[in-house]
Amino acid sequence: MLKKTKVAVMVSGGGTNLQAIIDAQKSGIITSGEIALVVSNKADAYALQRAADNGIATYVMTSEEVLIEKLQSEGIELVVLAGFLKILSPAFTRAFENRIINIHPSLIPSFCGKGAYGLHVHEMALEYGVKVTGATVHFVNEIPDGGAIIYQKAVDILDGDTPEVLQKRVMEQAEWVLLPRAVEEISAKIGRGEL
Ligand code: GAR
Repeated sequence: MLKKTKVAVMVSGGGTNLQAIIDAQKSGIITSGEIALVVSNKADAYALQRAADNGIATYVMTSEEVLIEKLQSEGIELVVLAGFLKILSPAFTRAFENRIINIHPSLIPSFCGKGAYGLHVHEMALEYGVKVTGATVHFVNEIPDGGAIIYQKAVDILDGDTPEVLQKRVMEQAEWVLLPRAVEEISAKIGRGEL
């Protein structure tokens, strides 16, 4: 059997997408990769508790420079942005070219880029009046939400939706399905030397 790809998951908040990856690892949806580290830019992120509850090492970042060294020294091969709400510098994205993936809660290229994160994205979709939204998993490069798309899934917007209600539906129907699937696929590709 191939060695598992070492994965770092980066978070900023609640960590439901992190939980989806942990659950997928436990249920056998993810077999090619293993979460070795959870990194947060916020010391009080609940996602850190989820990691600790599952025996996964955690790290609160101080600067991107130091984090690059940390990830490299730990042999991290794939970085997964799972609700990481800060834009990474070109120095970071260059250090992990084709090795960073992100989940975004809309169908890119709609409602994405700088300032479009978390609940704001759903506010933007409702404000515009689109009838369908969704989620996208994509590679991360120096352009915010601009890297190659890996997976997308559409989700209906229903009459009376609030940003909170819509966010929950997009998470349940799209994010928590797509992100674990992408972690498995990209980990497997890295393991086979195809990426
Ligand atoms: C998720 O909806 C994720 O797609 C979004 O933040 C939320 C984090 O929730 N990410 C972005 O907006 C990135 N631009 P979580 O902490 O419960 O996973």
